Formats: sequence, C-alpha cells, structure tokens
Amino acid sequence: MTSSARRLFSTWRALHHDNPLGLPKRGEPPVMPRRSLPPKRGIPNVKRVVAVASGKGGVGKSTVAVNLAYTLTARHRARVGLLDLDIFGPSIPKLLGLEAAGEPHLTSSGALIPLTNHGLPAMSIGFLLPGPERPVTWRGLMVQKAVQQLLFDVDWRGADPDGPGLDILVIDMPPGTGDVPLSLGQLVNVDGAVMVSTPQHVALADVRKGIAAFQTLSIPIIGLVLNQSCFFCPSCNTPHHLFGSSDASRSLGVKLLGELPLMPDVSTSGDAGLPYALFSSCSNTSGAAGYRWQEAMFGITKQVWEAI
Ligand SMILES: Nc1ncnc2c1ncn2[C@@H]1O[C@H](COP(=O)(O)OP(=O)(O)O)[C@@H](O)[C@H]1O
Ligand SMILES: [Mg+2]
Repeated sequence: MTSSARRLFSTWRALHHDNPLGLPKRGEPPVMPRRSLPPKRGIPNVKRVVAVASGKGGVGKSTVAVNLAYTLTARHRARVGLLDLDIFGPSIPKLLGLEAAGEPHLTSSGALIPLTNHGLPAMSIGFLLPGPERPVTWRGLMVQKAVQQLLFDVDWRGADPDGPGLDILVIDMPPGTGDVPLSLGQLVNVDGAVMVSTPQHVALADVRKGIAAFQTLSIPIIGLVLNQSCFFCPSCNTPHHLFGSSDASRSLGVKLLGELPLMPDVSTSGDAGLPYALFSSCSNTSGAAGYRWQEAMFGITKQVWEAI
C-alpha cells in the first residue's frame, strides 16, 4: 500500500469509528444503574405547583413566570409565591426589584423566609449568594443539594407560623433538560408545566425536548406560551412576525395558551423590577401592543388557573 493510500485508509477508519463516548448510534440510550429514589413529596405549605419551563434559554421564561404569578394574584385572588430554580442564572431577584433586599431571615426551625415585593413572596439562590456578580460554579451534586433546599427548606407561611401558606407556587425553571428538571420531577408532585417559546425553529426544537423530558417525568403539560410572537409597529399598528409565524408551534402537539407580543416596555419594566402586568395596569404607554399583551396574559392565566 502506498503511504497516501495508507493515510487515506486510516483517515477513513477515523471518520467511521464509533463516537468517542461509546454511545450507541441507534436504539435506546443506555440506562444508568440507579439507587431507588425517595417517594415524591409535597412542598410544605403549598397546595399547587406550576413550573414555567422551556428547554431553551432567553425565550422569556422568567418574565412569563413573574407575570403569571402576579396576574394569578391580581385577578384570581390566589396566594402565589415564586421559586427561582435557575441556579446558574437566577433572574427573580432582579425582575421583582429584590436585588438589594438583603439575605432572607430564618424561622426558629431554620427554614428560609421568602422575600416579598409587589405582593409576591419569592425565593432564589440569588438571595443567598454574596453578590449579583458572583457566578455559581457548582457541579451536579451541589446543584441537586441546592434544589432540594429550595424545594423543602423554605417556609411559604412567611414569618407567621400560623399563616395560610400558598395556593400556588410558580417555579421559574432553568434552560435545558438536566439536573434541575430531573430533581424537580423526581422529588415533587408538579401539577402542571407551562412551556415558553419564541417562534423560531431553533427555539421550538429545544422546547420539543423540554416537553418530552417533562412527559417522561409524568408532569402534565398545561400548554405553550408563544412569546415575542410579533411586533406591533407603533406608527401603523401592524403586527410584524419578526421571528416567523406562530404556525410552527402547532407541531409541538400541545395547547397554545396565548401569544405575547414583543414590546420594549416588557423588557424595561422587567429591568426596573416591575412585572409588566403591574406596570401596564398603572400606565398604558404601549398602545395596541400593550393591550394585546395584557389580554393574552389574562387568557393564559385563566387557562392555568382552570387546569390546576
Ligand atoms: N414579550 C417580550 N417583549 C420584549 N422583551 C421581552 C419579552 N419577553 C422577554 N423579554 C426580554 O427578553 C430577555 C430574556 O427574558 P427572560 O425572561 O430572562 O428569559 P429566560 O428566563 O427564558 O432566560 C429579558 O431581557 C426580557 O425582558
Ligand atoms: Mg430565566
């Protein structure tokens, strides 16, 4: 064999070897041997649990979670709390204007007391870190431990041990289908999941995986919120579907709960620590788009309320 033929042959072999992790290319993925899991528990002092998730980052999960929680309180008079399970990128302290609120106090039995703003008690790993700029660089086991503590070591009655607790806990999930959704689904009874996506195919593809992961964990999917579905031009009030039409979302096979338009005010009110649902009820500066957003959020909230 000539040297070039030898090189070609070895390159050919390199291109056709099994993948480096040795995972089979076809069939079911290998199952890791597991120790038996503890039975699922309820979250203390919480009646219902709703997860807001996606699979994809940056699509508006935290924004939807905060506004859903606020609208459940404002329109349905429910006692609602917010739990931020995004360990690596917690947004709830910022979105609720609680970044400078200090550390949570503890009950006499050592449980964390949620911090409250706009009538919403909330808990986040962001309240427990030394500063907002400090990144969390933890391995899986640390993440699982943190998730367990956030699920079971928070007293949602607040500082009053005779308090009624929560009707609904809205959980803001991180992107992806890793440790956190797994721990949540294995440890806790979740009454339903609201999936959030933008209309791009690249986002919908990840949402499809997120839906499949929740289904594997037997978490019922309430439906899909299509966020940033269109932009209303302020001069002509015409909807522009910047990221594609909403039709693609139908292929996910879940109920479309509503479409929220893309609006600068949603972003600026979030950055200012105000849920847009609260901001828009005080001053409607966003015109037709603001009205569409509000109507869609009311519709989404009503369907979630009825589903759980
Ligand atoms: N409908 C919307 N219109 C305008 N900006 C939005 C809208 N929804 C979300 N955003 C902005 O997009 C960014 C990402 O949203 P966020 O809720 O943090 O996403 P995720 O939790 O999925 O990572 C934030 O700056 C937020 O204010
Ligand atoms: Mg988020």
